[in-house]
Amino acid sequence: MNIILIGFMGSGKSIVGEHLSRLLQFSWVDMDHLVYQKTGTRTMHEVFALGGELLLRETEIAIVKEYATKQRCVLSTGGGVVLNKIILDYCKQAGGKVIFLHADFALLAKRLGKDRSRPLFQDLESARKTFDFRLPLYQQYADVVVEVAGKTPHEIALAILRNVVV
Ligand code: S3P
Repeated sequence: MNIILIGFMGSGKSIVGEHLSRLLQFSWVDMDHLVYQKTGTRTMHEVFALGGELLLRETEIAIVKEYATKQRCVLSTGGGVVLNKIILDYCKQAGGKVIFLHADFALLAKRLGKDRSRPLFQDLESARKTFDFRLPLYQQYADVVVEVAGKTPHEIALAILRNVVV
């Protein structure tokens, strides 16, 4: 079985994925890194400059087709995968458990601070709208919701383990 981590930008999908994969002795796949590999880029701004958000979303679909069927794998997704139902459908079809790392917008905004490396998190007002739009989607696709506030990445990984029978 695979574990798929979803959640908004800044919720800790990558760092938690790394911890969880070590605890489970699963392999760890970080979608954003695979997007860079497949598009020959190094940053999300480069991806957007090359082909806009469409290139990102098409590449995410290509990646999930390749990785959803892998065994014993933790997949740290990008925050926008919930925009394409097909991505979650592939994951679930292949027996993946989808874990939503939930945090309030205020915490995410504080964590990201002045980091503007994400093209879709450039100003608080539009990021807040994106968050409000996506929150029900994360909830809809989640098999398990884990609150991240007040927990270290390791504690979050343990909370996921408690909720998932591997
Ligand atoms: C995005 C989230 C980013 C990255 C891209 C778009 C989004 O990933 O895929 O900047 O649409 O929420 P992280 O959630 O890992 O920051």
